[in-house]
Amino acid sequence: MGKLKALDENLNLNNKRVILRIDLNVPMQEGKVTDESRIKKVVPIIKKFINKKAKVILISHLGRPKGKIDEKLSLKPVATILENLLNSKVYFANESYGSVTVEKSNKIKSGEVLLLENIRFYKEEETNEKAFAKELSKVGDIYVNEAFSCSHRAHASVCEITKHIDSYAGKLLSEEVNMINMLTSKAEKPVSCIIGGSKISTKIGILTNLVKRMQSIVIVGAMANNFIKYKGHNIGKSLFEKNQENLIKDIIEKCKTNNCKLIIPEDVIVAQSYESEAKLKSLDKVKDSDMILDIGESTINKIYKIIDESKTILWNGPAGYFELDKFSVGSNKIAKKITENTKNKNLTSIAGGGDTVAVINKSGCSNGFTYISTAGGAFLELLEGKILPGIKVLEINE
Ligand code: 3PG
Ligand code: MG
Repeated sequence: MGKLKALDENLNLNNKRVILRIDLNVPMQEGKVTDESRIKKVVPIIKKFINKKAKVILISHLGRPKGKIDEKLSLKPVATILENLLNSKVYFANESYGSVTVEKSNKIKSGEVLLLENIRFYKEEETNEKAFAKELSKVGDIYVNEAFSCSHRAHASVCEITKHIDSYAGKLLSEEVNMINMLTSKAEKPVSCIIGGSKISTKIGILTNLVKRMQSIVIVGAMANNFIKYKGHNIGKSLFEKNQENLIKDIIEKCKTNNCKLIIPEDVIVAQSYESEAKLKSLDKVKDSDMILDIGESTINKIYKIIDESKTILWNGPAGYFELDKFSVGSNKIAKKITENTKNKNLTSIAGGGDTVAVINKSGCSNGFTYISTAGGAFLELLEGKILPGIKVLEINE
């Protein structure tokens, strides 16, 4: 990896419009933010620019609205939270570019903040469109990427925009990339990876590459449903992704050739709906009306064994529907066990991902890991050894 273009700390930013690309992709339930970790993480960064008397223009995405306006995914509620945390004025722009927004960006006073609406309401964001990025660049004078967790996406507000405005790698982004690179390059074996969560399509491909580098891979969460189904078990109404059989077959075969242990759940917690009673079941007892929402006791014990065997653990993705306490047992126990071994057995533990951070916070283990990154997909892709498009564009001599 080349050296990243860093912002000169002494640069006079007084009255300058600084576009900060940050990641405010927070977990939401019914229009309410359920975990503020990602917001809290960027507060000191924003404060730094406020103190430098810049006009701070914030760009982020929230969820995956697929290029359409979706009120449930508006960043407006985040503006209110930010305002309280920052203790300074945060204005909100309903449109992310155009004359009205440019005017707003000029009109705010130095030391004030303007949050732009969810950038993924525009389809041009994900297609990394040039004209769109050029327009977007007009809302600021310089651009700083502090969204490591979005830097695996070749999207307009991460990549193309850097071609139209003076652009820099933020301090936190650089630190995060360096830290993960440092910890994983000297990772002591056995290295194990626990992968979960529900963003199946973006993670399942990554697994094919990870098996070559890991001694064990544990699959939990909605991801695991694909494997459980592939093995011929009923998964009832559980979340899964269609047409992944070949990929799964490939992963299983690659595990064998690379001598990587593959652990999938052998018992699960099911419920008929989120509201109904949680029941422990072996895989052969799952009925058509069941939804798998967490891992069971004997699976947890198997994971404990893997954690005990490992010198390095990487974790991305909760083991269940952790938003509800009754389905967060598996994730809690994993967090506690990793914390215990990090403290007592010199385990190097690295966790990443918005939901994973939320789960770790919920279980009171936020100080128990060697390093916690708020990035999920970007974290995994960096582990895979991939070059992240959003990082590449910020390298010097590109
Ligand atoms: C994340 O939550 O991992 C980042 O915000 C990126 O989101 P995405 O996976 O929807 O691109
Ligand atoms: Mg992700």
